[in-house]
Amino acid sequence: MGSKQPLNIVKMKKMKGDRVPLSMVTAYDYPSAMLAEEAGVDMILVGDSLGNVVLGYDTTLPVTIDDMVYHTRSVVRGAPNTFVVADMPFMTYHGSIDETLRGVRRLMQEGRAHAVKMEGGLEICEAVKTVVGAGVPVLGHIGLTPQSVNMIGGYRIQGKDAKDAERLLEQAKALEAAGAFGVVLELVTEEVAAEISKALTIPTIGIGAGRHCDGQVLVFHDVLRYDANYREKRFVKSYADVGSLIREGISSYVREVKERSFPAEEHVFKADESVLANLYGGAGKGVE
Ligand code: KIV
Repeated sequence: MGSKQPLNIVKMKKMKGDRVPLSMVTAYDYPSAMLAEEAGVDMILVGDSLGNVVLGYDTTLPVTIDDMVYHTRSVVRGAPNTFVVADMPFMTYHGSIDETLRGVRRLMQEGRAHAVKMEGGLEICEAVKTVVGAGVPVLGHIGLTPQSVNMIGGYRIQGKDAKDAERLLEQAKALEAAGAFGVVLELVTEEVAAEISKALTIPTIGIGAGRHCDGQVLVFHDVLRYDANYREKRFVKSYADVGSLIREGISSYVREVKERSFPAEEHVFKADESVLANLYGGAGKGVE
């Protein structure tokens, strides 16, 4: 699609004002980032969902800053003209501010991200302020926050009653006041997400948060069913079935190797007759 200027946080805010929806997808490596950029996505998230999706963990908790740096670098190489946000992993922004800034520095300098994402509400606002003060855009993330899955007691829908709705609205406003350039709303009831989106001047980006957010984000592997054991999720729409294509492709390859129908004539390299003559004393028949 040629080279374009990556989006920036000023343009994102204007897009909200102009009611232009933002599209975001996760990516974890070079080829997926390249394809996402070619497909015209506005932003890429190197989510710590890489723990579940790519590294085979059952939660995002084991993901480290080293993992995030490694994957972010490959994504940025694949999508050099797209705004890339990298997740701060579990427990890397709840200790000293020095530790937080060290992680942020690594994601920005070694990973070459354009921004970082942090999960949480009021308890992370001081960290958000400091990171934004250091010149690094921060995307907030409230609602279902997978890094706190053990506190939340599972992957539950958020904002089902008035008290919870109030709590989410307060968190979103606090993140905006702390300087976040946007807020991800994960698994939030549609009405509450709409209310939050109306109350903020910064964009909300929903995943399982209904139709009234300022943008949407989905996990790459969900959009494409790129998974060996794909499980339907109500809030996901899959646009392709890459998992089935891969399974069919690899099993055809295995079958043809077993049948000796691959490699075929068109896949092999032939030596000159003169080479064969030299090698095999003129018989010219070393390789049948
Ligand atoms: O890690 C991730 O992929 C995310 C999205 C689900 C928003 O945080």
